Amino acid sequence: MPASILEARNLVKKYGDFIAVNDVSFIIEEGEVFGLLGPNGAGKSTTIAMLSGLFPPTSGSGAIGGLDVVRDLAKVKQIIGVVPQELALYPTLSGRENVRFFGELYGLRGKALSERVDEVIGYVGMSERANDRVQTYSGGMKRRINLAAGLVNHPRLLFLDEPTVGVDPQSRNHIFESVERLNRERGMSILYTTHYMEEAQRLCHRVGIIDRGRLIALDTPKRLIESLGGGIIQLGLVTADERVRAAVESLPAVRSAAFVAAEEGAEGKTILKIEASHGNEALLQVLHYCNEANIDILSLDLLEPNLETVFLNLTGKSLRD
Ligand SMILES: Nc1ncnc2c1ncn2[C@@H]1O[C@H](COP(=O)(O)OP(=O)(O)OP(=O)(O)O)[C@@H](O)[C@H]1O
Ligand SMILES: [Mg+2]
Repeated sequence: MPASILEARNLVKKYGDFIAVNDVSFIIEEGEVFGLLGPNGAGKSTTIAMLSGLFPPTSGSGAIGGLDVVRDLAKVKQIIGVVPQELALYPTLSGRENVRFFGELYGLRGKALSERVDEVIGYVGMSERANDRVQTYSGGMKRRINLAAGLVNHPRLLFLDEPTVGVDPQSRNHIFESVERLNRERGMSILYTTHYMEEAQRLCHRVGIIDRGRLIALDTPKRLIESLGGGIIQLGLVTADERVRAAVESLPAVRSAAFVAAEEGAEGKTILKIEASHGNEALLQVLHYCNEANIDILSLDLLEPNLETVFLNLTGKSLRD
């Protein structure tokens, strides 16, 4: 077993009666890029806030580098970098001055500080604009300076909370490449939250899927996708007839079939969700059955096997609402 850099144990965060994070446990191994994938309000930022010491968990605990995130917070802060979802930059200062400020917070001074600031600004590709005021930057440039600020103390573990939201494609690519290089060249461990499944699929060694405060799946993207078996077929029918469902489920290439609520804008039809053990065969068998039994098909969707489909299959809804 490789050593773990982070351990979250049964984390809970309550706001009154509302449970924002509900019994979340996971481990991040040293050198791993770990993704938390989930829709708006799933509990991603709240999980990061507890693990980076912004506020304590209602119950449960977290450890980073073997140190408790509540008891040993001062030491924990030396080994983590946090890039929050909300930008934490002074608009009237330059990018360089902003990053210097964060470096000073970590006790860096003089030449060591200047060198470190130049290094991290170069890393995110902002050297040319570093002396301009932040208020003159595009959204993507602000994000890149935000990332530089999180890197200034050379953290062993970096928290990146939705770093690409509202970012142009060029800055987005820069951020991706920075994440990949930090991990590859420095062995930096990264907790990356996103609601874009393509990002999780591309960047993360393992992905935890979070919904309504609960971690509902955790594995490599490949294994999560393989758990779908032969894929998902969604069949739009006029009525939810139990005999039809049972007949479809008994087809040899079908693993299960269940009626689900139709998405918005699809009134007047019901959706039979079919999990196939063998995609193409299942499709042929379903069509053959409907033809023989004289069942009208209103729509037919073959869902591409990806993390979006994994999420849809687990929760019955799509990641982006
Ligand atoms: N201070 C607060 N008081 C009450 N509820 C809160 C508070 N902060 C967050 N919540 C709720 O907790 C839940 C989780 O919020 P959180 O910000 O962790 O979600 P998220 O996964 O980061 O979402 P997003 O993708 O939109 O950033 C949400 O339902 C949110 O409304
Ligand atoms: Mg968030």
